[in-house]
Amino acid sequence: MPLQTQTPPFIQLHHEDRAAMRAELVAGLLETPANIAPKFLYDALGSRLFDAITELPEYYPTRTEAAIFQQHGADMARVVPGGSILLDLGAGSCAKAARLFPVLRPAAYVAIDISVDYLRDTLQQLQKQHPALAMLGLGMDFSSRFALGADVADWLADGPAAQAPRVVFYPGSSIGNFNPKEALALLKQAHAVCRSGGQGGGLLIGVDRVKPQAVLEPAYDDALGVTAAFNRNLLLNVNRVLGADFAPTAWRHVGLFNARLSRIEMHLEATAQQTVRWPDGERMFAQGERLHTESSYKWQPEAFEALLQDAGFGRARHWSDAQGWFSVFWAPA
Ligand code: AVJ
Repeated sequence: MPLQTQTPPFIQLHHEDRAAMRAELVAGLLETPANIAPKFLYDALGSRLFDAITELPEYYPTRTEAAIFQQHGADMARVVPGGSILLDLGAGSCAKAARLFPVLRPAAYVAIDISVDYLRDTLQQLQKQHPALAMLGLGMDFSSRFALGADVADWLADGPAAQAPRVVFYPGSSIGNFNPKEALALLKQAHAVCRSGGQGGGLLIGVDRVKPQAVLEPAYDDALGVTAAFNRNLLLNVNRVLGADFAPTAWRHVGLFNARLSRIEMHLEATAQQTVRWPDGERMFAQGERLHTESSYKWQPEAFEALLQDAGFGRARHWSDAQGWFSVFWAPA
C-alpha cells in the first residue's frame, strides 16, 4: 500500500455568510417563543465547555458510547466491512474515529466538519500515526445537506479505495439535535452516500435513548453549572455575531425533559423584564419568558430502527450498555 507522506488534502465546501447568520438570529429572536439555533453554542469557548460537559459525572452519553465501542468493537467489525471509506460526520478532534481504526481497518478516512480549520492540525498529526491510510479533510455543513460533491468524488476515484464500501460514522448522539422529520431527511442523504460506494456499506450511528427523567435532567443541568455556563455562553456569542447587548447574568439556565416530544430542551429564562437591543432591532422579554436554545431528542430503539428503515436502510442491529441508556446502530445500506 502506498504511504501517504504528504499532509492530507482539504476541501472547503461551506462558506459562512455573516449576513445570513445575523438574519437567522434576528428571525429567531423575534419569534414567540424566541429561539436561537444550537449551532450558536459552539464558538471557541462553547466548544471547550462542551468538552468539559463530557467529563461531568451526570453527563452519561459520551462515556457510555465509548464503553459500547470498547466492549462490542470486535462484534461490530464482523458486520461493518473492512477496507472501507470511513466518512466521519462532525469529526472535530477525530478521536472517536481514530480509536476505531484498529477495529474497522478502513482504507480511507474522510473527516467532515463545518470548517476544515478545525480539522487541519488533527488530521496532519493523525496522518503521521497512520501513514498507510488515505485521508481527506472536508469542510461541509452536512446538517443542511449531506452529499459528496464532484471534488470529493475525484479524490475518491484517484485513491486506493475507489470501489470500497462507504461507511458513514455519526457518533455522539448528535442526531438528537434534529427533530424526527429533519433526522429522516439527513438519514436519507446518508443512505444515498452509502449506496453510491461499493457493496456492503452502511451507517454506524450513536443514539441516546429514552430513560427516566431523574437520569436525563441532571445530565443537562449539572451540579457544577457547566451546562448552565455552556448555555449562557451562547448569549456572548450572539452579542459578538449580531452586536446584541444580552446580559448573561439576567438569564437562568433551564434543562428539562419534554416527555410528550421525547426531547431534552434547553432554554434561557429571563430573571427580570428586560429589553435586548441589536443594530436595527430590539425585543422586550418579560420576567420568566424563555429563549429556546437546544433540543436533544431521545429515541426508543424500535422507533429509531423504524426511522432507519424509512430512510432506506436494511434491517439494523444495535449494541447497548447494560442499563439500556445508549445504543450504537449498524444500518446496512
Ligand atoms: C452534542 C448534541 C450530542 O444533546 O447531548 C450537551 C449537546 N447540550 N449538553 C447533547 C449538549 C447540552 C449534545 N450533543
